[in-house]
Amino acid sequence: MSLGLKRAGFEVVAAYDSWQAAVDVYRQNLGGFVRVADLKDIFRIAPEIVAQRPDMIVGGPPCQDFSTAGERIEGERAGLTRAFAMLVCIVRPRWFLMENVPLAARSDAWRDARAMLVKAGYGLTETTLNATYYGVPQTRKRLFVVGRLGEADAFLESALAAARSPEKMPMRAMFGEALGGCYYAHPRHPGKRGVWSVDEPAPTMRGSSRRPMPATYQPRPGDTALVEAGAFFTRPYHDGRGVRSLDEPAPAVVRTTRERPRQSHLDRPHPADSVHPAKAAVLTQEQVSRIQGFPIGWDWSGAAVRDVDQMIANAVPAPLAEAIGRTILAREAGESIPEIQGRFGQWLRRSKGFNGQAVRNGKSRVNRARRLLGGRTFPDLAGELAALDAVEAFAALPTGTRSDLRKALRLYREWQEQPKGRRKVKAVLPAAVEAVAA
Ligand SMILES: C[S@@+](CC[C@H](N)C(=O)[O-])C[C@H]1O[C@@H](n2cnc3c(N)ncnc32)[C@H](O)[C@@H]1O
Repeated sequence: MSLGLKRAGFEVVAAYDSWQAAVDVYRQNLGGFVRVADLKDIFRIAPEIVAQRPDMIVGGPPCQDFSTAGERIEGERAGLTRAFAMLVCIVRPRWFLMENVPLAARSDAWRDARAMLVKAGYGLTETTLNATYYGVPQTRKRLFVVGRLGEADAFLESALAAARSPEKMPMRAMFGEALGGCYYAHPRHPGKRGVWSVDEPAPTMRGSSRRPMPATYQPRPGDTALVEAGAFFTRPYHDGRGVRSLDEPAPAVVRTTRERPRQSHLDRPHPADSVHPAKAAVLTQEQVSRIQGFPIGWDWSGAAVRDVDQMIANAVPAPLAEAIGRTILAREAGESIPEIQGRFGQWLRRSKGFNGQAVRNGKSRVNRARRLLGGRTFPDLAGELAALDAVEAFAALPTGTRSDLRKALRLYREWQEQPKGRRKVKAVLPAAVEAVAA
């Protein structure tokens, strides 16, 4: 996550993990500000973090107690989710970002953590993102919670969705260069993709795109074998599929992803396997690391092979963290606003008798007010209107325009506060049922 956030433009000032080997790898790649610490030791850690005055606290509390692979008995590790929330509540940075497995959303630990964060004044965006839409060829669904002081809930959801690419990234997009069906376009941002398949839309070419391919983009050991096999094996969960084609993303990386097929897999291949597991490539550790978004050249030296597998599996892919980081920074800079959600227009038409033009005006005024507010949302209308009044550019507008913008925000709030169930029922059911539901 630190790598992705740095690429997005954050300065990382401190980092902690209780695992010495992970701290060593972090230090040799990202910086000496990392140290070993038990984050449950809040008495010791909280004053230290307060002194750093961070704008954001970021964490991926251990997920074994929640994950489908684990036993799902909430134990001490789940407690780290509570410790994370406590640290955020004590330090009170403007933002926080937490990652976990989707099942964590239904855990007792998150229920407690959530209650503390809400009480401390954070608006929460709780969303599951799939890494394959954010720059890595891996179907990895994870819960991300973004909190910002003073916001309404779901404030960043539409912006995170907008950062998503329309297509899943297939493995071929990362490894295809080994066969030459690819070309190199120098990336606009360091760490961004430089190699593109001839079968996909080209990136925007500019003068600076035509630089020579750096040596790091040369085919890597194992890549040619992988592309020639056209399929790869990853150890399946239970009775799931073990073989995937290069034209699809890899399944979520876990510690055992690059294990060879066992005899049972060879004897009883999954009916949907595109080739026999014996013919599929087994991924190298370096390939698994790249699928998790670590760049070529990431220095894993010094760590035991098995520990490296675990560290890779633990990570948030850097391109996904980068996309989230960019989305946060854009909102912080007032460059993005939340999208109008749901059937606000339909509601204006039906409940308020607005015609087409009035609906368009209503929506564009909500957006204009939100741009004036720098993309901020507010838990209550009074706070939102007061904040708008305090904006200089708003105060300079003619009286009629100001009252139109206030009215649009009032209407949007009224729509948002409609009971959800009824709102849905009204939209989809015929009148008779609507009356019953009402
Ligand atoms: C899901 S991993 C997240 C790794 C990392 N944040 C990343 O982005 O790749 C959870 C991490 O929590 C660490 N951890 C577990 N218990 C801890 C504790 N009590 N204090 C600090 N770190 C702990 C583990 O060593 C592991 O590296």
